[in-house]
Amino acid sequence: MPEQPNFIEIDGQLSFEDGNFPSVVVNTQPNISPCELVDWVQEHKPGLELELSRSGALLFRGFPVGCAESFDSFSAAFGYPNFTYQESLSNAVRINFTERVFTANEAPKEVEIYLHHEMAQTPISPDKLFFFCKTAADHGGATPICRSDQLFNALQQKDPALAKRFSDKGLKYTSHMPAKDDHASGQGRSWQSTLSVQTKNEAETKLRELGYSWSWSDDHSLKAITPVLPAVRTLNNGVKVFYNQLVAAYMGWEGVRDNPDKAICFGDDSSIPIDGLEQIVSLATEFTYDLEWQDGDVVLIDNKMTMHGRRSYSGERKRQVLVALAA
Ligand SMILES: [Fe+2]
Repeated sequence: MPEQPNFIEIDGQLSFEDGNFPSVVVNTQPNISPCELVDWVQEHKPGLELELSRSGALLFRGFPVGCAESFDSFSAAFGYPNFTYQESLSNAVRINFTERVFTANEAPKEVEIYLHHEMAQTPISPDKLFFFCKTAADHGGATPICRSDQLFNALQQKDPALAKRFSDKGLKYTSHMPAKDDHASGQGRSWQSTLSVQTKNEAETKLRELGYSWSWSDDHSLKAITPVLPAVRTLNNGVKVFYNQLVAAYMGWEGVRDNPDKAICFGDDSSIPIDGLEQIVSLATEFTYDLEWQDGDVVLIDNKMTMHGRRSYSGERKRQVLVALAA
């Protein structure tokens, strides 16, 4: 293995004042074994983490990661506490491969998943995300990634009053959880599965503990409203990030583009202006890089700094991107 990680530039990479986005490190010794790779990660962890804290996303290309098990070992080598999907409040339907590794999102291939910070619409969200491309799609299927510090900085310049409203008021999200998993939507995890409970009583206890309000429908589905969650967070280095689920909720959740009040509002229950949401969606494109996957790629994302999504795709090949989350 190289003495130091070998960072390279790739086509279309974005360039910010603090450097390239994403950072890309390539393997220069193809005969390295998965075990030696784990040693290499541990040896170079400080340098890799420094680069991650600067860029917010680190792409590893050409390393010997080819299956869920080697991806599990690679992601575990960083030593971060595991953030298990079962314990999360994510409503995306997924399939587990190992305790740590599961499918990125089982939404149908024609569905686009818009930019978001993982689980920012819940009170509990992971710090870091590992994605591994087992099989890239024939056409499309890129993972767009967007720097939220850059986005918030741009919003402050374009519309300081709106940026301040987000900072000061925070957000509330309303979600609808069906009584049974709905695999067609990709966001249709049942309330039992989302909340890790069996009964309505247990669901209510959990929601109460987390500060949610809720109501039940005749079809036994659940409408849950979060406590006030931040729309903007400050990182340890003092940088502000637009840490939320607004783009994904506005662009992708059913019926929300026509009526944002259905799912998102400011923390004081006031409406978020549609022109403000449109402005954010448009600004985000300036800071977004489409990661076109190659088989075997792994990307490590700082979930506090960088949003991600999934482009739609087509073709015969079954796109398989696996995920491991870290607390
Ligand atoms: Fe996600």
